[in-house]
Amino acid sequence: MPSNISNPSQETNRAALLATTRSDGARKFNQRRHLIDTGDLTRDEVSSIMATAETAKHIIARDKSPLNLLNDKVVANVFYENSTRTRSSFTLAAQTLGAQVINLDINTSSVTKGETIFDTASTLIAMGADALIQRHASSGAASQLSNAVPSYVSVVNAGDGWNAHPTQALLDLFTMQEICGNVEGRKLAIIGDVKHSRVARSNIRLLTNLGVDVHVCAPPPLMPEGLSEMGVTTHYELSPALERADFVMALRMQLERQQDGLITSLDDYRKIWRLDHARMKRAKSTVRLFHPGPINRGVELTSELADDPSISAIHLQVTNGIPVRMAVLLLLLNSEDSHR
Ligand code: NCD
Repeated sequence: MPSNISNPSQETNRAALLATTRSDGARKFNQRRHLIDTGDLTRDEVSSIMATAETAKHIIARDKSPLNLLNDKVVANVFYENSTRTRSSFTLAAQTLGAQVINLDINTSSVTKGETIFDTASTLIAMGADALIQRHASSGAASQLSNAVPSYVSVVNAGDGWNAHPTQALLDLFTMQEICGNVEGRKLAIIGDVKHSRVARSNIRLLTNLGVDVHVCAPPPLMPEGLSEMGVTTHYELSPALERADFVMALRMQLERQQDGLITSLDDYRKIWRLDHARMKRAKSTVRLFHPGPINRGVELTSELADDPSISAIHLQVTNGIPVRMAVLLLLLNSEDSHR
């Protein structure tokens, strides 16, 4: 069959996905236009994103061919910082929905000649971009961009400085729900370089709203201020944080975002903080380990732990990045009932 003629199962898949865009939460999210952080989202919007992602995951498990739902859309990935997982999964998600994708290579773009994020964005918009997926080293960069673009363009924050990484938190929630169903009352321990982690902040804002019992554990120089106002319990020792945890999220030591001297040495850090099988015994026997990647093997966790499929959910997180980002793009960009 020629590839441009859709087969009946693709019709069914398309209808199933479109059906998930018609809930109140889905409409609210569509009208919001941008995804800047998880703290902006209502419970209804989060449930709608999860429901769309669940349908998307079922579909792509059977058939990865393009779904022709966003055929008239252009999605531009504008990453001012390196990325493997986030950029690739946004690309696959957009392509699977039928959109065209521009992957701007910042190192060979006019950014190296001093072009601002706004001029880069308006250039891409002039070429027809409907969504800008932006990662930037400055906290607040995505929000600034969302205030500057025309009303028919959506901005998705793919990480801004230490501030937020909403699609990572949404895929973490999706993965937790896949493992245990309802997350309310479950204990999550976030461990490591919390201070420099946008992943931790977006997860805290998302999961405390859903009733997750969030514990944060870090050496004092890597613990940010103001966490108790965010509704989490803080610890400076591993044991109480790990105690009876359902989920443990290890964070990378983000040396590129740190000033010098915050930790004495990586060796000292390993001795006290590195997660291994013995330390994980303090958690529930059913505990699952999360890590947003990239992993520094042997620093924040041992290779044995990272690669143990009975504990590690790291591959599942990566896999789930595609349906979750499909959900975000479809809900923001689909034009039924939309602002477009
Ligand atoms: C993270 C990021 O870049 O924010 N990785 C990711 O997107 N999966 C975490 C990190 O930098 O360590």
